Amino acid sequence: MTPAVLDVVDIVYNYPAVSSPTLAGLNLRIAAGESVAIVGPSGSGKSTLLRLCGLLDHPETGEIRLVGERVTYSPERRRSRLRATTIGFVFQDFQLLRDRDALGNVLLGAMYHPTLARREASQRSRELLDQVGLSHRVGAVPGKLSGGEQQRVAIVRALVGDPALLICDEPTGNLDTSTAKEIRDVLRDLCSNRGMALLLATHDPATWSSVDRIYDLHDGRLHVHKPDAC
Ligand SMILES: Nc1ncnc2c1ncn2[C@@H]1O[C@H](COP(=O)(O)OP(=O)(O)OP(=O)(O)O)[C@@H](O)[C@H]1O
Ligand SMILES: [Mg+2]
Repeated sequence: MTPAVLDVVDIVYNYPAVSSPTLAGLNLRIAAGESVAIVGPSGSGKSTLLRLCGLLDHPETGEIRLVGERVTYSPERRRSRLRATTIGFVFQDFQLLRDRDALGNVLLGAMYHPTLARREASQRSRELLDQVGLSHRVGAVPGKLSGGEQQRVAIVRALVGDPALLICDEPTGNLDTSTAKEIRDVLRDLCSNRGMALLLATHDPATWSSVDRIYDLHDGRLHVHKPDAC
């Protein structure tokens, strides 16, 4: 059987001084080409789950497998390499560097990639920026970009290394209706054409009917989303 791109098994995560676990034995499996949206009220743990899946933090117990490899307790050097080559991460607050222009920020996504040459990365960055309607803004620093433009730069930065798994925290939260649709279309095409797996958090499940599965996160676990319950 082909391994899932992401396999999350029984993970538990507690923040210090928080009485009940934020994630309480959570399971999730995403195959190549599949897309999954996580919904849930503010504070339910969506960003926490995404950070763990992005190897930015460790669960207390349980396991995370990436393309069949058990990575939960891998050495930090190995986890860094996987973050550079296999995972693209779009933060809820973008985390763009203020002193670099859009292109410079996107190129950061390729900086630690072991095989992507700078020239190739630069060409790919420009193509992707063009694809999301930002070819005229490549030289603008984040302070001169709208929230929606910054969000698109953050998405392109995550895509430049051609990740097997793209993780997006509220990827269309700051976008107008038509740009949000364009971003959803770009992400959908990446899943179907390149076999990329997509994991995203959203407050707006109604607009994500294009994904394969939607789960509600509550009580630290995932439940199949029922539109009426939201
Ligand atoms: N560093 C931290 N220390 C302690 N508690 C934290 C920390 N970060 C988050 N929390 C708490 O953990 C819970 C889950 O937070 P998380 O950011 O994962 O929620 P979320 O579902 O992404 O919310 P939102 O929809 O507002 O983005 C919240 O109760 C939050 O207050
Ligand atoms: Mg969040």
